[in-house]
This record gives sequence, structure tokens and C-alpha cells, in this order.
Amino acid sequence: MNPVKVGICGLGTVGGGTFNVLQRNAQEIARRAGREIEVAQIAARSINPLCQTGSTLITDDVFEVVNNPDIDIVVELIGGYTLARDLVLKAIENGKHVVTANKALIAVHGNEIFTKAEEKGVIVAFEASVAGGIPVIKTIREGLSGNRINWVAGIINGTGNFILTEMREKGRAFADVLKEAQALGYAEADPTFDIEGIDAAHKLTILASIAFGIPLQFEKAYTEGITKLTSEDVLYADALGYRIKHLGVAKRTPQGIELRVHPTLIPAERLLANVNGVMNAVMVNGDAVGSTLYYGAGAGMEATASAVVADIVDVVRVMTSDPENRVPHLAFQPSSLSDVAV
Ligand code: HSE
Repeated sequence: MNPVKVGICGLGTVGGGTFNVLQRNAQEIARRAGREIEVAQIAARSINPLCQTGSTLITDDVFEVVNNPDIDIVVELIGGYTLARDLVLKAIENGKHVVTANKALIAVHGNEIFTKAEEKGVIVAFEASVAGGIPVIKTIREGLSGNRINWVAGIINGTGNFILTEMREKGRAFADVLKEAQALGYAEADPTFDIEGIDAAHKLTILASIAFGIPLQFEKAYTEGITKLTSEDVLYADALGYRIKHLGVAKRTPQGIELRVHPTLIPAERLLANVNGVMNAVMVNGDAVGSTLYYGAGAGMEATASAVVADIVDVVRVMTSDPENRVPHLAFQPSSLSDVAV
């Protein structure tokens, strides 16, 4: 069988990681996917020095990838709302499956994108959009599918958690740690998204839609960042036996689903209080399973690539399965079972 052909748009931190993981683990990945996977084209403004792209076709125009008739799966890793939305909608129109790590895009334009994808019978997979390498979307959708979810709560911005950890453990200044997070490739292109809670609100919106079967309603999330926190706040919390963590919480209430992102005092002995650095952790409480906790790197080149590649493998499995027996488990199924109450 011919390899499945993938086009990667964006060769920055996550794009570079995705390319490298696909090359390095090609055999394992092909065994798991049931087909070889070939990166047939890359759209990038410049070549990531960490990638050996060799003879791979390179363009600086993402639409060349999206309109390339040879490409089966478009991997959108350019970030942002505008060009990303245009290229994803065009890819869907062209009948291509899409894998994206773009939480802003999914949280803000996801309802439109999933409706179009459903019409065209293609998959839009987005595991890497939440909590980096932690497969939490798949876990809620598949592993916890027997549960009525009561709440989801977690540390879902690696940059913010890195800043709070370094302030507490090393007494470092906020701005100095943020600069390091940017240099390490953790922060968003516009880091105010990290520190003002917007990135966490994007991710919470996505988690809530999967957990509660509601449409994506980013605009209804209460969003507060960490910019007003001082070193004194962090140290006083410590002295009182607490840690300050920036949490995203989505909770079922009698009025509907509550979505909120804000700094929270957590008793120092709790598991979430001990999630440090760029690590993320998501707790999910279901009526059957009780509370469960998922922990791992929330940002970074290969951690996030791990989730992107898993989505590519899932899409390949669906592509090669019997159409009569396909489980549409990757497509978002918006419903109006309950609404957001904030
Ligand atoms: N800026 C994001 C974070 C990247 O720090 O969590 C991963 O989504």
C-alpha cells in the first residue's frame, strides 16, 4: 500500500517536533497506523535548524500544501486565528483530513470548522490543542465514555505554571521567567495569552465541549490571569501551607456548565499543588469512575508533537478502516444537552 501523505504547515516548535518524531519513529508509527506515513510537503517561512528536511518539498505558501492533490492529511501548526482558519476550511473543502494543535482556532472557530468537516466527511483531530503531550481529550472521549462528567479542573498552561513555580522556588522575577519560557518555546507568539489566562480559557472551552457535549463557548469563560500576582502573594501562600496555581475549572451546576480560569489557593499536600514547572495536570471527575488525574508536559517541542502524531495515526486508522464500520470518534459532535452558565 502507498504511504499516507502528510503536509505540515508550520515548522516552528511543534511543527519541527512533529517532523522529527515522524522521521525518528517512522517504523513504530507505521506499525501502529497500519500504513507508512510520509511527509510529502512542508509550508514554512524558514527551515527549523533542528530538522533535517532533506529532499522534502518545501514552500512558503500554506495554500500550496492545502491544494496539493497528493496530500491526504493537512497538519496545521502555524497558530493564530485568521490564516489558520482559512487554511483549515480550505483543506476541509478539498476533502482533506486535518490535524491541528491550535487551541485558539478550535475554541473560537471550532463550531464552524466541525460543521464543515462533518458535511465533507473528513476528520479534524485536535488532541495537541490541550495540555501538550497528555492525551486528555482522547481519555475523556473514549476512556471515560461511560461516565456523566461532573467536573474537569486542571493546570493547563505550562508557561504560567513555570512562572509561578520559579517565583516560589527560586524567588525569580515574573518578567525574567516569562522571557525564559519564551526562549524555551513554551509561550504563545503573544505571551499575554499565557499570562492573562486566554490560552487556558481556550483549552478549558475545548475540554468542556468534550466532557459535557456542549458547543464551544469561549466567550462565556470567566478569564483571569496571573499578572496581578506578586512574589509576596506566592510566598505568603507558602507560609500558610498553600500553593497558588492557575486553574481552569469546568463544572456542572444546576444553572448549566460553569467555565472559569483564575489563580487558586490549593493546600500544599494536594497532588495539583505539586505540579511544577512546565508540567500540566488535568483532573476529571465522573459519576462512575470518581476522580482521575492526568499529568505530563504541557508544552514543548516533542511533548506536543507526541499528541500531533497520535492524531495522525488515528486519522490513518480511520482512513484505512471499513467505511461501513467507522466509529466517528474523532469528530466533535456538538449538542445542546446543556449550556454554559457563567
Ligand atoms: N503556551 C502554551 C503553554 C503552549 O504554555 O501551555 C502549549 O499549549
